[in-house]
Amino acid sequence: MTPLVETVVKTDKFDFAIDCQSLTALFSKKLKDEPFLKMLQKLSWKWSPFKVWHFSRISTKLKFFFNFSLGERGSLMSDTMSSNNNMFAPKLLLGSTIAFTYALLIMGNLVTTTGSGLDCPDWPLCHGSFNPPKQVGIWIEWTHRLMGGIAGILIAGSIIYMFKKVSGAVKFLFKMILGLLVTVIILGGVVVLIEAPLLDNLVRIATVSSHIIIATIIFTSLILAFRMTFKSGERTEKVYTLWLFGLVSFQVLLGILVRYSNSSLACPDWPLCHGAIFPPSMMPEVLLHYTHRLFAYTVFGLTLWKLVSTVRSGGENKLIHSITFGLVLMQASIGVFIVLTKMFLPFLIAHGAGAFLILGWVAFQAAPYLVLPGETAESPAG
Ligand code: HEM
Repeated sequence: MTPLVETVVKTDKFDFAIDCQSLTALFSKKLKDEPFLKMLQKLSWKWSPFKVWHFSRISTKLKFFFNFSLGERGSLMSDTMSSNNNMFAPKLLLGSTIAFTYALLIMGNLVTTTGSGLDCPDWPLCHGSFNPPKQVGIWIEWTHRLMGGIAGILIAGSIIYMFKKVSGAVKFLFKMILGLLVTVIILGGVVVLIEAPLLDNLVRIATVSSHIIIATIIFTSLILAFRMTFKSGERTEKVYTLWLFGLVSFQVLLGILVRYSNSSLACPDWPLCHGAIFPPSMMPEVLLHYTHRLFAYTVFGLTLWKLVSTVRSGGENKLIHSITFGLVLMQASIGVFIVLTKMFLPFLIAHGAGAFLILGWVAFQAAPYLVLPGETAESPAG
């Protein structure tokens, strides 16, 4: 039944559009006794928006079209409602999508570190078949492609499922992810097709690294959307958290460029580079590798400083800072071992996996502070 009168009601907690005719018909008895707005406010507390959304699907009598602005930045619900059992399904869906995308990133890493990208020379099928010859390299690349397909379906499915229930920054992120998803799928094909004839090195670096960079942005955006949607919570370390997020993002970008420009051993020793604190030759590869190290030391120093100062002052979030520093320490150590062992494969895989884990972790911490123009930040700068 199409609503005859649809009104946008603004309460102190949230706004929504409502089919007044249906509501009046259903609650006319109550409405006689209570003011209209008070009645709606009562309803809003009684039913979480999600319950109402479900209810609206099975009932043709009531149609609530929520503009979910309960939490800040367009989150799906307020803090008080975040424990609601009805959030289990979307939380599980988006959470599994993030976990699967992470696994896909590691799988992609495995493809490139083992040089299996060319083992399926055609695209989208592999050796023209869904069941390609059983060789390790072929199956690594084929599994990566199949996982990519599943991740694409999961990501698009989660977004379609949740799109109408979110607004603000989350909606913006969802739209961006969908756009990037299409791009990354096309780039995935292009990578295979241009890698086969071995085009100009720079074009290859740009294409291959843009594929992984976009995949990384999708992964990070999913985590931001997850945190913005399901958990807000009070935080007081805005400046530090955002700086850390920015630095780690840049460091991951540098790492990806180090890898795809074949600069991994451009500084073949450690802690020095070509036996000097400042490398004697500043070839682009050396510069890139050296900058990657310098940024790693910066992130290391920053997270260590934060942990020490928090412990000394007895400040909050000790656990969070310990985890962050622990991850960075582990990541940097693995980076050093890559150099010392001259690129031992397990270290390469672990370094990639660790990098995305750290990025996801700091993105999760930063999400409450990321706002779109016109929206309000959650807590004061720290
Ligand atoms: C916060 C610390 C660090 C982060 C977040 C980080 C991140 C990354 C990322 C994302 C990659 C690309 C991996 C891939 O595409 O699979 C990478 C590659 C690399 N990183 Fe780091 N890194 C860090 C510290 C270090 C340190 C301290 C070193 C060495 C002293 C190092 C050496 C390398 C090398 C040699 C590569 C290329 C590996 C390859 O060819 O696969 N990294 N890093």
